[in-house]
Amino acid sequence: MVMGIGVDIIAISRMRDILETSGKVFMDKVLTSYERERSETHHDRVAYVAMTFAAKEAIFKTFGIGWETGVQLKEIEVRDGEWGEPIPVLTGRFLELVSERKATRVLLSLSYDGDYAIAVATLAGGE
Ligand SMILES: CC(C)(COP(=O)(O)OP(=O)(O)OC[C@H]1O[C@@H](n2cnc3c(N)ncnc32)[C@H](O)[C@@H]1OP(=O)(O)O)[C@@H](O)C(=O)NCCC(=O)NCCS
Repeated sequence: MVMGIGVDIIAISRMRDILETSGKVFMDKVLTSYERERSETHHDRVAYVAMTFAAKEAIFKTFGIGWETGVQLKEIEVRDGEWGEPIPVLTGRFLELVSERKATRVLLSLSYDGDYAIAVATLAGGE
């Protein structure tokens, strides 16, 4: 059963500006250590960071919550699956929310082309 859906789109040029002006602050605030390392090996670092940020915002939106719930974007980690598919792993307050909602899965799909990166996420669970 679909319990929530979220989408986010980001201009890769905007992410390039952020990384040039406040890259370390942004990376430390938003990305996990796995994601920071992965960004160094991805063939398009800026697109990777943009997609990963979009992924986190899309997953945030699936919950229909506000930031006052105490969630942090670093509590969402986007890992590479065996075939390159993105696998979201939630921790902390996000994981508590998954449990409270009796959700069982967060599904994620990512894409980028030209100047845009996009993420679509679904919160699923129940029978
Ligand atoms: C909603 C959020 C996740 C993304 O907002 P955004 O990228 O500015 O806006 P988007 O264009 O992607 O989405 C806006 C739409 O999302 C929807 N939306 C707004 N708040 C939402 C929420 N809490 N949950 C789900 N959807 C929401 C609305 O339809 C909104 O449209 P509106 O502005 O016309 O009402 C916002 O909370 C945010 O700005 N997050 C960034 C916080 C952050 O940690 N940034 C780190 C930078 S260092």
